[in-house]
Amino acid sequence: MREAMRRGPRYKHEASESLPYETITVDKLTPVIGAEIGGVDLGRPLSNQQQDEIHRALADNLVIFFRDQSITSEQHLAFGRLFGELMIHPAAPHIEGHPELLKIYADKDSPRANGESWHSDVSCEPEPPMGSILHIKQCPPKGGDTLFANMYAAYEALSDRMKAYLEGLHAVHDGEHVYRGTYANFGVKDKPDYPRAEHPVVRTHPVTGKKGLFVNRGFTTRIHGIPLDESDAILGYLFDHMANPLFQCRFRWQPNSIAFWDNRCAQHRAMWDYWPHTRSGARVTVKGERPV
Ligand code: SIN
Repeated sequence: MREAMRRGPRYKHEASESLPYETITVDKLTPVIGAEIGGVDLGRPLSNQQQDEIHRALADNLVIFFRDQSITSEQHLAFGRLFGELMIHPAAPHIEGHPELLKIYADKDSPRANGESWHSDVSCEPEPPMGSILHIKQCPPKGGDTLFANMYAAYEALSDRMKAYLEGLHAVHDGEHVYRGTYANFGVKDKPDYPRAEHPVVRTHPVTGKKGLFVNRGFTTRIHGIPLDESDAILGYLFDHMANPLFQCRFRWQPNSIAFWDNRCAQHRAMWDYWPHTRSGARVTVKGERPV
């Protein structure tokens, strides 16, 4: 114990130098992940420099937050399209008239809330989304926070032996157990099949070039090429490891807050600790690429 205290935390975050921002403000929530962005109204057209700086702030912080953004569905969709084509969710209900706007809603009659276990959105797709942009309009009086975790940091904190072991391994991400029957309370009928894909356990981010863990408790069911009991043990270890609070930030929502996270290097988990109150909003999901 004393030895561990002398050495300090097992994971030490090395802050990278970032270019200054000129058109937005960037206020970090923690040294490891998350930043609040100011000086921008997402309901108005953004200059090229603002768009570039928002993109850079996302790459630097993995999840960025905006406050007091009273935007319409159309403005939400238009903001998402600045970062790529939008994806239609394979299972979840959407806001009427807008298939690309996923409905986020839980109240006193809900059997569950979205995203209650650690996950990277729709990682069961062969090309999982690059990012998700969630606009919360109605908040409970307390609770309903979202936790975000840095998967570069989780990877970096592994021992060199574990990194070598994971190199080249691929894992199955399955939507079946996540989605079947899940949205029945919204009147959504099940589809015959849900997406299933194999991805590298460690992926390299296409923008930053950094390596991050890409398995999550929500979707990842099996590592290929090793016995099932070994796969279960390794996944269990990685799921516990990535949930270490050292890699996290926790965002407290207000009405008209927006969170924009990068699914390629961050996982998130929504807290359903506000029953019987209501929390509602909508999410836009930006298409991504096949993980490598
Ligand atoms: C999700 O997109 O997984 C839900 C996140 C949240 O409601 O905070």
